[in-house]
Amino acid sequence: MMKFNLISFVLCFSIVSLNIVAAQKKTINEKIDSVFRLMTLEEKIGQLNQYNDDWRATGPTTVDNDKVNQIRKGQVGSLLNSLGTERIKSWQNIAMESRLKIPLLFGQDVVHGYKTTFPIPLAEAASWDLEAMELSARIAAIEASAAGINWTFAPMVDITRDPRWGRVMEGAGEDTYLGSKIAYTRIKGFQGKKLGELNSLMACAKHFAAYGAAIGGRDYNSVDMSDRMLWETYLPPFKTAVDAGVATFMNAFNDINGVPATGNKYLQRDILKGKWAFKGFVVSDWGSIGEMVNHGNVKNDYEAALSAITAGSDMDMESRNYKNNLAKLVKDKKIPIALIDDAVKRILKKKFELGLFDDPFRYCNAEREQAALNNPDHPKVARAIAAKSIVLLKNQDQLLPLSKNTKTIAFIGPLVKSLRQNKGFWDVDVPGVDSNFIVSQWEGLQNKISGNTTLLYAKGCDIEGNNTEGFTEAVEIAKQSDVVILSIGERRDMSGEAKSRSNINIPGVQEDLLKVLLATGKPVVVLINAGRPLVFTTVNDAHAILYTWWLGSEAGNAIADVLFGDYNPSAKLPITFPLSVGQIPIYYNHFNTGRPAKNDNNHNYNSSYTDLSIYPKYEFGFGLSYTTFEYSDIHLSKKKMKINEKIEVSLTIANTGKYNGEEIVQLYIRDKVGSIIRPVKELKDFTKIKLNAGESKPIKFYIDKEKISFYNQKLQWQAEPGEFELMIGASSSDIRLRGEFELIR
Ligand code: NOJ
Repeated sequence: MMKFNLISFVLCFSIVSLNIVAAQKKTINEKIDSVFRLMTLEEKIGQLNQYNDDWRATGPTTVDNDKVNQIRKGQVGSLLNSLGTERIKSWQNIAMESRLKIPLLFGQDVVHGYKTTFPIPLAEAASWDLEAMELSARIAAIEASAAGINWTFAPMVDITRDPRWGRVMEGAGEDTYLGSKIAYTRIKGFQGKKLGELNSLMACAKHFAAYGAAIGGRDYNSVDMSDRMLWETYLPPFKTAVDAGVATFMNAFNDINGVPATGNKYLQRDILKGKWAFKGFVVSDWGSIGEMVNHGNVKNDYEAALSAITAGSDMDMESRNYKNNLAKLVKDKKIPIALIDDAVKRILKKKFELGLFDDPFRYCNAEREQAALNNPDHPKVARAIAAKSIVLLKNQDQLLPLSKNTKTIAFIGPLVKSLRQNKGFWDVDVPGVDSNFIVSQWEGLQNKISGNTTLLYAKGCDIEGNNTEGFTEAVEIAKQSDVVILSIGERRDMSGEAKSRSNINIPGVQEDLLKVLLATGKPVVVLINAGRPLVFTTVNDAHAILYTWWLGSEAGNAIADVLFGDYNPSAKLPITFPLSVGQIPIYYNHFNTGRPAKNDNNHNYNSSYTDLSIYPKYEFGFGLSYTTFEYSDIHLSKKKMKINEKIEVSLTIANTGKYNGEEIVQLYIRDKVGSIIRPVKELKDFTKIKLNAGESKPIKFYIDKEKISFYNQKLQWQAEPGEFELMIGASSSDIRLRGEFELIR
């Protein structure tokens, strides 16, 4: 009886809630219609038009003195790069003078923080810490939404295998599995509980698609790839973005197999809005609609607008092609009005969900803005994730961590005292905030050391150029010290959009400086600050190497935490570090060839270089700790599985060193024989585990059909019966435990 009552209650409750959901859905559609049916064609096209304010143009801009007037006439749907509640409010006020008072959306590249700057996305990815990454995106959203912004053009979920491409800094690295997990996490972080909460930002999965595979690593360049590669390697993070409920997509500058992504119907209509049923809207990249003329895919702007709207690009960022051509395209009967209507409704829906129709100024409260920007907890979180992003690449004779009582430390290098550099490429010029609001590396170290330590400084040299005049002073202070810390690398704007480089060595004479410092015989710790994997020469001879990327506003404190052991480094590389540019593209999950090279000394008609090793400098997943971890006791619950079964994999991890620490345990699988050859290994799971010195813990993974499926020749996602190799380790090369299993019919 009891059971029956419960069931009827549940049924009844579900019917009621279904009805409520239906009613709510209807309500939003009704709301959209209530505005939509009043709109003229010109006003509809206005919603598809996005203009830049006057900050950070990332492409050609049109000086448009008529902007205000156009907003007043309802001919603009969104602005990007407007900063601060005051300015945003003033634009919104103008939109409220328009006939239908449709509010503007305000977009911004909030990529690694707003006021509080977090590590660049590639650095954060090295933490493999999903919780921490969600929190950093959350804080970015809290700050930016309180400053009037509704929409971030992030996360970039492009898979990137070429460190010459400057935008590697903006993604999660080379791996599809890790990249998809991070895509999900960041979207959840930005969007929060739901759109419309005051601290939520619309996220934007970009750049759809395959922008990260630009030929030669040259920005905006063509992409040529098989459909199988596209589906297997480059699309999954985008599909995950849809699953995470991402509000918007951005298409890309590149052409893919000869068709510009912006005018690519296969990508946007067939896959994104068709197969994946994406209900949000797609914005073009900056000017990318007009750029299709340069690609040579369309004759003129009129055709570019036709191509983009037909393909499913809903909003035109800065090219003005929709504004100038859509009405004529309708009049000429080149496009049905239904295409425009669909795009408009998608955009209006987001404006309703954000609550902008209820109150267009709801994100513009100056008091809330100040409170969010000055929240004392935010820098603490930034410091913690910055420390988690630092990768320990070398630690000869356990030079690190340094003692806080070291008598004299020489802190040398062009990046020791720099401020803004630490922020990385996509820092935001927040109004009223000093862009040097940063804990420098110098300050971080000073905060850390005890009164017994003397800290000496010399710049040594510049980041670029040939000037070695500062070497003498640097050597002088090195000689007076117990240990030298050398901070070198790139400038923050050497990696980022349009920052492709053919030479990714450490620039200038910085490695020469290291050489003279090593010659003093003093132990040298090198900090490498960069937005991409760099190629080293002399750095290999340093006693300890920390890859510090660009860590954001708390860089100095985080670096000091790691140098002195208050945080034991746990990060692992999310991208392969090549030995030399000649190896690029180089990535861990490659196929085996028919003539695999077995070692570097045997070039006898096998797949190697005659003048260079085929192995990277540092492999994907690599990173050291101050402690050591032992992997043992692997056990598979069964050795044969049927397609709908699971195998439980258990093992034990022990911290066998002297320090408490965290280990990122990585699980790789190889499908030994496939109708499409399978990579030598693929990351399929990982876990980050915290262990005190001497402690050990059991961990478990599960293998199911998802983990062993791939796209076959017909592009069907399926697993093929046969044998699989299981590898569990501390990096993609440092495999500690192995197992085998079989998928049976
Ligand atoms: C061009 C970049 O490719 C894109 O990622 C960015 O969001 C826009 N510019 C806006 O700044």
